[in-house]
Amino acid sequence: MTLINEVIINKKSNLNPIWIMRQAGRYLPEFRKIRKLNPNFIKLCLNENLSSKITLQPLKRFNLDAAIIFSDILMLPYGLDQSVIFKKNFGPLLGDLNLNQMSKIKEKDFVAKLSPIYKAINNVSKNELLINKNMIGFVGAPWTLLVYMINKQSPKIKLKRTFFKDKILINETLLIIDKFLKKHIKNQIKSGANIIQIFDSWAGLLDEKDLPDYVYYPTLNLVNYIKTLHVPVICFPRGIKNYKNYCENVKPDVISIDYEVDPYLIKKQIKIPIQGGLNPKILLTNKENLKKQTFKYLKIFKDFPYIFNLGHGILPETKPEMVEYMVNLVKDYK
Ligand code: CP3
Repeated sequence: MTLINEVIINKKSNLNPIWIMRQAGRYLPEFRKIRKLNPNFIKLCLNENLSSKITLQPLKRFNLDAAIIFSDILMLPYGLDQSVIFKKNFGPLLGDLNLNQMSKIKEKDFVAKLSPIYKAINNVSKNELLINKNMIGFVGAPWTLLVYMINKQSPKIKLKRTFFKDKILINETLLIIDKFLKKHIKNQIKSGANIIQIFDSWAGLLDEKDLPDYVYYPTLNLVNYIKTLHVPVICFPRGIKNYKNYCENVKPDVISIDYEVDPYLIKKQIKIPIQGGLNPKILLTNKENLKKQTFKYLKIFKDFPYIFNLGHGILPETKPEMVEYMVNLVKDYK
């Protein structure tokens, strides 16, 4: 059994498996080299040979316990024919959301459009670097996808007041998101993904009163669906204030905490395995500080089922040498 499964399924502690959110890409020179030659990011995600290669790059360098497929949460709107481009120094930019057209899309056309992702998962999961390790598939949470599909770009700090104006548009879009997310998840699992992580990067934008409608209920629905496929699900509701409430409502197998969460407190409040926490900015400081902060998390979660990870994606300016240092600290920790 993989170390991550020992933690999730058998609730083992002191094993300290490790993987890193956004480990494939950005900060690795070997990724940047490929990226430079492939200016269209979506096309790169749909090039099964290159995306397989990029997925394996961090595993070639570091002693990680899982691969995460090189893809993007925005492949879902792309698969639904909403245009998505990645503008340099700006981030994603989506085209207008046309519900009329979108509601006519057939599942088989969606799956055909995204099929290189499934082929890449299949390739990677059979690679010898994956022996005794997990292959993580992922999706954006319904709420975070809704934000991108309606707002058409990253919302930065807060949503425009007009965001909730058209309730019909919101509800119809959520229904489509739910239907195709399930399809996307099922195909990733069929192709070899043996864990699913749900990224709710914009959960923290909502007021407490709106969490049940937009976060708890739609995510619980997905979590229940993934459980019927017998694959563990990790949820990452970045920026929410009350992780305990989230866990009680959404019931994931693992909760991934962001760097604002007090690790002492969460350990007392939550009964399920915990992942993550370390602020990615610590990797930009120095080895001494990195060691201190890494040990802090390892000490707090000693004797608790814990998967080491960061509290958000690794930053592009991170030196691979610092990642290697951190991974070895975690692996050698007794
Ligand atoms: O974890 C991995 O290494 C697997 C690949 C992965 C990517 N995106 C590749 C990517 C994963 C898991 C994601 C998730 C994702 N994508 C999220 C949720 C996690 C989070 O960070 O909150 C979100 C919100 C997105 C949407 C997205 N994609 C944005 C906002 C951007 C631009 C800014 C950025 O983060 O670079 C992307 C582009 C993107 N997705 C890149 C990569 C490697 C950079 C592309 C480039 O080289 O320009």
